[in-house]
Amino acid sequence: MRTLVTGGAGYIGSHVVRLLRNRGDFVVVVDDLSTGFADRLGDARLVRLDLASDTAPALIEAVLREERIDAVLHFAARKQVHESVQRPAWYYAQNVGGLANLLLAMETAGVSRLVFSSSAAVYGDVEGDAVAESAPTHPVNPYGRTKLIGEQLIGDATTGSGLSAVSLRYFNVGGAGWPELADRAVLNLVPMVFERIDAGLPPLIFGDDYPTVDGTCVRDYVHVLDLADAHIEALDHLAAGMHGHGVFNVGTGEGTSVRAMVEEILATARSPLQAEVRIRRPGDPASVVASPALIAEKLGWRAERGLDEIVRSAWDAHLTGSPRE
Ligand SMILES: NC(=O)c1ccc[n+]([C@@H]2O[C@H](COP(=O)([O-])OP(=O)(O)OC[C@H]3O[C@@H](n4cnc5c(N)ncnc54)[C@H](O)[C@@H]3O)[C@@H](O)[C@H]2O)c1
Repeated sequence: MRTLVTGGAGYIGSHVVRLLRNRGDFVVVVDDLSTGFADRLGDARLVRLDLASDTAPALIEAVLREERIDAVLHFAARKQVHESVQRPAWYYAQNVGGLANLLLAMETAGVSRLVFSSSAAVYGDVEGDAVAESAPTHPVNPYGRTKLIGEQLIGDATTGSGLSAVSLRYFNVGGAGWPELADRAVLNLVPMVFERIDAGLPPLIFGDDYPTVDGTCVRDYVHVLDLADAHIEALDHLAAGMHGHGVFNVGTGEGTSVRAMVEEILATARSPLQAEVRIRRPGDPASVVASPALIAEKLGWRAERGLDEIVRSAWDAHLTGSPRE
C-alpha cells in the first residue's frame, strides 16, 4: 500500500511509519517539524509543510498524485490542552483548518481513505464506568473541541464526497516501541514523573480525594505500539472495502490510578522517592476508562501490552538519552 502520513515525525505517527515501512509499504510523511523530529523517519520521504497554510491544499494534492497515494493517516495536530485555552483561534486554525486542507487535497486528487487521530478528550467529563463510543461528547477545552469538530467534518465528508474513514479516539498513550521514537515532550504523566526523578524531586499527585479506588484519578493507559497496530488494522479494513465513518475507542478497558502508575514508575526506576500529594487541578475528571468492545468486534484489535511494558519501555528509552524537547 502507498500511504501519506501527516505528523509522521511525531511520537505516535513515527511508530506507525516504522510499522508500515517494516512491512514494505511506501510512505511519504508531511510534517512541519514543529514538534516532530526528522531523525525519527528512517528512509521515509519528508515533505516539510504547515498543513494549515494557504498553499497546503495544492501542495498536498501534488504529493498525493505524484506518489500515487492510496490512503492517508492524519496525525498532525497541536495537542496541548493548556495552550489551546490560551490560543483557541490558532488551535482551530491548526487542527480544524489543517484537516479541512487535507480533505480538500484528497478530494481533488481522488484519494478516499483516511485514518484520523481523535482523542478521549471528545468525551469531556466522563460519568460512570467504561466509556463507550455512544456516550455523550462534551469536550471541556478547545483542544477536545477541535478533535470533535474534526470527527464531524470527516463524517460530513464520508456522506458528501465518498470518503471512507476511521477516527480513533486515543486514551492515555505511553511507552516506546523503539527508544529513538520515544515521547520527547514532557506533557504526560510518565515523562513528567521521569523529569521529577531526574531532578531528585518527589513526583506530584494532584488530588487524592476523588471517588476512586485510592482517591487519585484513574486513567486507561495504552502502549504506543498497540495503538500503532490499531492504525494498521484500520488501514487494512478500509483497503478491504470498509465504508462510511467508523469511530473507535483505543484503550485497554483497564483503569490505573495515578498513584498506582507513579508507584510503578518509581519501582521501575528503582527510585527511593515518594509521591507528594497536592490539591486537585481544575478540569481533571475522576475516571476515564475506555470500553474497547467496539474496536475488538469491528477491527479485531485488542491491546496486548500491559502497564509494566509501557513503563519499562519508556524508562529504557529515557535511559538511552533520546534528546528532549
Ligand atoms: N500523545 C497522546 O497522548 C495523544 C492522545 C490523544 C490524541 N493524540 C493525537 O495524536 C496525534 C499525534 O500526537 P503525538 O503525541 O504523536 O504528538 P506529536 O506532537 O509528537 O506529533 C504531532 C506531529 O504533527 C506535526 N504537526 C503539528 N502541526 C502541524 C501542521 N500544522 N502541519 C504539519 N505538521 C504538523 C508535528 O511536527 C509533529 O511531528 C495528534 O493529533 C494528537 O492530538 C495524542
